Amino acid sequence: MSDSSHGRVLHSHVVANFLVGLLQCNAAFLVDVARPAVPVQQRAARAAVEPRMLASTPKMVKLGLVGGGTVGGGIVEILSGKKAFVTDSLGVDIQFSKIVVRDPSKPRDFAVPDGCEVVGDVDSVINDPEIDLVVEVMGGTTLAKDVVVKSLKAGKSVVTANKALIAQDLPELESLIAEINVGREDEVQFGFEAAVCGGIPIIHALQNDFLGDDVVQLSGIINGCTNFMLSNMNLKGLSYAESLAEASELGYAEADPTLDVGGFDARSKLRIMMKLAFGINVDEDEIPCRGITDVTATDFEYASTIGGTVKLLGIAKLDAPGSDRISAFVAPCFVPSTSTLAGINGATNAVQIESSSLQESTFVGQGAGRFPTANSCVSDILAICQGITSQPFPKTAPDSLKFVNSFTSGFYVRIRFRDGTGIIQSVGEVMANNGVSIFSILQNPIEDKKDSQFVVMTDPCDVSKIKKVCVELEAQDWCLGDTFYMPVL
Ligand SMILES: NC(=O)c1ccc[n+]([C@@H]2O[C@H](COP(=O)([O-])OP(=O)(O)OC[C@H]3O[C@@H](n4cnc5c(N)ncnc54)[C@H](OP(=O)(O)O)[C@@H]3O)[C@@H](O)[C@H]2O)c1
Repeated sequence: MSDSSHGRVLHSHVVANFLVGLLQCNAAFLVDVARPAVPVQQRAARAAVEPRMLASTPKMVKLGLVGGGTVGGGIVEILSGKKAFVTDSLGVDIQFSKIVVRDPSKPRDFAVPDGCEVVGDVDSVINDPEIDLVVEVMGGTTLAKDVVVKSLKAGKSVVTANKALIAQDLPELESLIAEINVGREDEVQFGFEAAVCGGIPIIHALQNDFLGDDVVQLSGIINGCTNFMLSNMNLKGLSYAESLAEASELGYAEADPTLDVGGFDARSKLRIMMKLAFGINVDEDEIPCRGITDVTATDFEYASTIGGTVKLLGIAKLDAPGSDRISAFVAPCFVPSTSTLAGINGATNAVQIESSSLQESTFVGQGAGRFPTANSCVSDILAICQGITSQPFPKTAPDSLKFVNSFTSGFYVRIRFRDGTGIIQSVGEVMANNGVSIFSILQNPIEDKKDSQFVVMTDPCDVSKIKKVCVELEAQDWCLGDTFYMPVL
């Protein structure tokens, strides 16, 4: 057995154990199945000790921070704590010039750096010719868009954590940046590492480390709130309502959790990663999206019976390597316990990438929170300040690559029924009439003959067939409705 195959064979066990430790220490790691995992912090430290030619006088960079809340405060705290390192080792003297907030009189939970003004007007940053770099961490898609667009047009580089804005306006931002940089020696830079999966360095990886590779499939647990809820349902046996209540109490869910539990937050992130991984721009509304509201304790019971669990995944995949068809969806999925993603619990995020050269790699870490998210912004800020340039959206898909609003998978179908004779025969007929092949049928002992549930696992087929099967099953007189299906990873 070769070393590399040995690495792959060990993968599911070693990585699963490794992930347990990793979750406990709250760190973001790159997990590559063919090589030992390298903590991101270790990589950064290694880079920092390499000899570098420093200018005798550090380069001064004036920074305008738009937003001084959770993330903005974290950025100030990290950079203030690293000031000596950044000046002495990286050769950059970063000065916070202005911090823009809604209410400048409100006390802040961080120390405002010396010489920095706290103001209430975004124009005072956009129009300040001395500010070189604007960091937008206010959120929203209206005023925040103004800040980003006007700052770029004014020749300032921009760092943002704003997923909603990028998911909505990616093609416009891409063209604008290209247009602004025509003929410029000092190209404006656009960093958005924090916009997808908070602290996980997935954007930089997709921008740089997969440039010479061909991504075939990207699968991610990319919403911390729903992963926290599903983990609680699985491991603690909580109901959906109890899990949501706990997620809200711990600050993982918004007051209106629809964006999380409906899958829409995950869809925005998937849309951005699709551009980076495959070069394709897909309107996020075109990506099929189902949330976790219909997942029940019964699904965890059956999933466990067949060796797996339920996760909300965002998946984008080519039909085959080199194919000109790409599909994507966000949905609860059956994830076999052999998959690394099955062991990612709590509010942790993970993105798994299958590609031609690197094969399978998984990026795991904190998807949100003050310091993980601020760390990603700081990483962008430091890269820009050091003059490290990168294309924000380096891949462009060939015209031949088409997004198809459908996908093929094996499916888990949960069926609610009133007991009687001929039910399995009836299910078989409906499936056969729609060209769906049954892989297996699972049924726990019936406790209530008037209202019980069983599960059919299918062979791979198009999702449209499963939707039709569900409609036809619900028309049977023994079926009690609420038929639920999910793809198998
Ligand atoms: N929090 C996370 O874990 C996380 C993770 C990933 C990405 N992000 C993204 O990071 C961005 C910021 O999130 P956050 O959690 O830091 O938000 P936040 O705590 O609500 O902070 C927003 C900041 O922006 C300021 N602001 C809002 N509207 C303004 C306006 N009209 N004019 C001037 N200032 C305004 C607020 O001022 P006041 O303080 O005076 O109200 C506040 O300081 C968002 O795009 C979010 O999606 C956050």
